[in-house]
Amino acid sequence: MRQKIVAGNWKMNTSIAQGKELVHGILDRMAEVPQDVKLIVAPPFTHLYPAAAALEGGAVGLAAQNCANHESGAYTGEVSAAMIESVPCQYVILGHSERREYYGETDETLLSKIKLALSHHLIPIFCIGEVLEERESNMHFQVVSSQLREVLCNLSPDDFAKVIVAYEPVWAIGTGKTATSEQAQEMHAFIRSFLAETFRELAENTPILYGGSCKPSNAAELFAQPDVDGGLIGGASLKAEDFIAIAKAFI
Ligand code: PGA
Repeated sequence: MRQKIVAGNWKMNTSIAQGKELVHGILDRMAEVPQDVKLIVAPPFTHLYPAAAALEGGAVGLAAQNCANHESGAYTGEVSAAMIESVPCQYVILGHSERREYYGETDETLLSKIKLALSHHLIPIFCIGEVLEERESNMHFQVVSSQLREVLCNLSPDDFAKVIVAYEPVWAIGTGKTATSEQAQEMHAFIRSFLAETFRELAENTPILYGGSCKPSNAAELFAQPDVDGGLIGGASLKAEDFIAIAKAFI
């Protein structure tokens, strides 16, 4: 049985006070969340420490949205995997399309970030996905398989077994346009079988989350697909009520 996961990527949103309110809004509604669903929140770096205190190592996991590709040293403005581990924090989102597009993150940087994260006991939530032109020119499977081959396929089986994958078609992120449940299932099944070529039966246990305009009104249909193990939620994770409604969408 694969872990069901709903993770909230807050991106560059909320003040500390608003973040606190959001965390408490989620904690107040935890009784509504099915026991077998793991919730994770990924606030900005400045919010991690107070969020960890509020979550008190309980049922809700804490993720950073990025980490540096160096262990430590003269890298002004960067935050290392060791620092994130010391918060304490358990997860880190890596390879989000916004990082790839606006900050030039390449497969090579992402591989070193993933290795550093794993060496500091952080579970990577590794994001992949194609842009609109790639989907329209029928290149989406090729793009996604290359993102997997260059990064995840270079990990040892033990390391790979810890990773969470998030398929996020870039054309669906923040656009209100969601992949249909058929498109999501088709890609998630492809990702799993591609990973199985290298990692065999381990790929059967890899949680593959869908991301891209996932909201309370479409989560149930997406999560009902056999290879969709949950969601990485942007916009809708900024309201506790919506985030919890998504967490309740598994059948
Ligand atoms: P969205 O973002 O839900 O706002 O589309 C998803 C993401 O970027 O992780």
